[in-house]
Amino acid sequence: MHMAKNNQMEQIDIHSDNSVVSRIMISESVDALKECIDSYAHVFAIMDAELARRCPAAAEVGHVLNERKIPGMLLEASEKNKVMDTVVQVCTWLMEQGADRDAFILAVGGGVTTDIVGFAASIYKRGVRYASVPTTLLAQVDACVGGKNGVNFMGYKNMLGTITQPEFTFVCPEFLASLPKRDFLSGAAEMVKAFIIEDKGHYERAVMFLKGYSASEDTGSYLKDKRVELQYLVSAAVKVKAGIVSRDCYERCERRLLNLGHTFAHAVETLAFQQGYDISHGEAVSIGMIMAAELAEQRSITDPLVGEAFGKCLSRKLEDDFFECGFRICSPFGIKSMAEVMTRDKKAYDGKICFILPCDIGNVMMLYLSVDEVVELLS
Ligand SMILES: NC(=O)c1ccc[n+]([C@@H]2O[C@H](COP(=O)([O-])OP(=O)(O)OC[C@H]3O[C@@H](n4cnc5c(N)ncnc54)[C@H](O)[C@@H]3O)[C@@H](O)[C@H]2O)c1
Repeated sequence: MHMAKNNQMEQIDIHSDNSVVSRIMISESVDALKECIDSYAHVFAIMDAELARRCPAAAEVGHVLNERKIPGMLLEASEKNKVMDTVVQVCTWLMEQGADRDAFILAVGGGVTTDIVGFAASIYKRGVRYASVPTTLLAQVDACVGGKNGVNFMGYKNMLGTITQPEFTFVCPEFLASLPKRDFLSGAAEMVKAFIIEDKGHYERAVMFLKGYSASEDTGSYLKDKRVELQYLVSAAVKVKAGIVSRDCYERCERRLLNLGHTFAHAVETLAFQQGYDISHGEAVSIGMIMAAELAEQRSITDPLVGEAFGKCLSRKLEDDFFECGFRICSPFGIKSMAEVMTRDKKAYDGKICFILPCDIGNVMMLYLSVDEVVELLS
């Protein structure tokens, strides 16, 4: 992974076979987007409609696009709309706009928007170039790094999709000031996940930041004097993911570590979707990470020194930290109903699922377990 700094932007590269396949540009100000799209001729922008209504920094993106007379489409981005029909709507609009194989698609919004648009770009005329401008914390630290995209199918999350790297991802903390607390915390769970996988002192630093955040009134006022710290933490989390993706783009091995908490999280999200509960992706991930820690303890793979050092087990430490950060920590569904969904997990191989289990902060391992074993251990 290569890192370079110019006046305004930090650049983190994603490599594959010794060449750069995608760049993450981190900028203090939205203005720098102009520079990033300068060299592209036929740009088509697709933006989350709710973002356009709520976020002042999105209006600045609007000015940048208007200056260049870039055609734009607004998308009602919701988990319910994250389906093939919406991908078809995006492709239809591109056809109507006369977008050819030279088109460059810009996706502006949270993970729902960038997943839908990234997928559309990867199949439109057998694939055109695209870039993401993630406007939620979750999309900045996770969804827009690594090239995965997709939509929900037959009631299951992200069942159709591709791995196609964006040309670049433009990350700017200015967007996050207008994020509702619940959405901010949802992204924070993925940020903390990155530091449980690879620590370098960032886990405790993120927890400190988030404890302050959870006691604050709203995101905008907290970020007034904490934007630099947030940008530092976002950049650190992006580096964890970019490093892993660079070593294993197609999830043959190491990239699976990023699924910490996700097998449980996908079961929680699927049941929530089917039964009409309102649980966000990050909320499900925070629940999933605690369940993964409980599973690690049941299999006696957490570092015994952790228990000694903290005077309690890892799952209790995570529960306490997560509670103080304001994360959701308990699943509303029992392990048996979650098990039925996990059996159909797209990451199941030969009846076993690769669970990522935390041994300690900054140290995780893979363990293949059958769903029956997991039910027995967690019942
Ligand atoms: N591709 C991947 O690797 C990957 C990884 C993790 C998650 N995901 C996907 O990401 C999705 C979740 O992403 P998300 O949490 O960003 O959801 P989202 O896109 O639905 O955004 C959450 C809410 O915030 C609003 N919003 C967006 N930016 C805003 C801003 N700056 N100010 C105010 N409001 C704003 C949106 O309109 C929406 O209501 C899920 O569908 C999940 O499956 C994908």
